[in-house]
Amino acid sequence: MAPTLSNGFSMPVALNCDFSKEITLNNGFTMPTVGLGLFRMEGKDVKDLLFHAIKIGYRHFDCAAKYKNEVEVGEALAEAFSTGLVKREEIFITTKLWNSDHGHVIEACKDSLKKLQLEYLDLYLVHFPVATKHTGVGVCASVLDENGVLDIDTTITLEATWRGMEDLVSMGLVRSIGISNYSLLQTRECLAYSKIRPAVNQIELHPYFQRESLIKFCQKHGVCVTAHTPLGGATANTIMFGSVSCMDDPILKGLAKKYRKTVAQIVLRWSIQRNTVVIPKTSKPERLEENFRVFDFELEKEDMDLIKSMDRNYRTNQPAKYWGVDIYA
Ligand SMILES: NC(=O)c1ccc[n+]([C@@H]2O[C@H](COP(=O)([O-])OP(=O)(O)OC[C@H]3O[C@@H](n4cnc5c(N)ncnc54)[C@H](OP(=O)(O)O)[C@@H]3O)[C@@H](O)[C@H]2O)c1
Repeated sequence: MAPTLSNGFSMPVALNCDFSKEITLNNGFTMPTVGLGLFRMEGKDVKDLLFHAIKIGYRHFDCAAKYKNEVEVGEALAEAFSTGLVKREEIFITTKLWNSDHGHVIEACKDSLKKLQLEYLDLYLVHFPVATKHTGVGVCASVLDENGVLDIDTTITLEATWRGMEDLVSMGLVRSIGISNYSLLQTRECLAYSKIRPAVNQIELHPYFQRESLIKFCQKHGVCVTAHTPLGGATANTIMFGSVSCMDDPILKGLAKKYRKTVAQIVLRWSIQRNTVVIPKTSKPERLEENFRVFDFELEKEDMDLIKSMDRNYRTNQPAKYWGVDIYA
């Protein structure tokens, strides 16, 4: 069983606890605690931002086939390697299998590798626990039926998808495999049928959506938890999903004042102190720096408890708006 910390959260198995800049996964590979999310990052902005991020110290980049910018990320990485800005082995690259490619795991991964111009991925995730109508490898459409409801494929099991993920490890194309947006029970199932255990579950987490049971379950079983949407999606999710983010919350603003940090830094630090990895996205160079500077202070227990009291069990990334069905129902 994983060791329990004074704040009640557990470290993934075989991990040191110092809220350090890296987390050791259950297979021995390490993953930087702060990464850069690339969702909704325009292709034209990718190169400048990636270069800037690498110069600041980012070594972890969270991609997905669905984000439609793997080609631009690949071009930027190739240039970063060839100019000596960073070495391949110094960075951690994640990308994700889209729902429409569950029946084509190997081909989809190879397509992402080709676009990213990489020989291997550090981490490949099943993006959502749902297979949908196949639209061509790497096309990543979300086809709706005649009623405007997501065309969910009922013939492919998540276990079959996972077998494909495990094959990628055997083939040397991927170092670690993981899951994303899996509930506690879906994670439990995955642990039961897996030959290679998921190294990571990447889930939405922020002060309004804290999911303590799921985090503790994952950590107890050695599954590292990554917080996607760690800022609650801020303005981007308000525009895309009409949701309310925590960034304007007076409690967080008060803590920002107390610690002389920004609200984003308070929220990211809170996440790190729960032993979750964070992958905030920004297209603004000054925010890249801000979001990375979260290791020079520590939130006191009373302030961790204060943030804990803010939980609203509120998801801000709500694909149901576009899919005509709530897949979390
Ligand atoms: N697995 C999944 O299903 C899934 C789902 C969603 C996201 N993700 C991953 O998680 C990453 C992060 O999630 P996200 O991009 O949805 O949401 P997020 O990182 O919580 O928030 C992004 C929003 O916050 C703003 N922002 C960034 N830094 C800020 C700061 N210091 N102060 C104020 N606002 C700030 C950004 O605006 P600017 O760009 O204008 O700065 C953008 O509007 C994604 O990029 C993706 O890699 C995964």
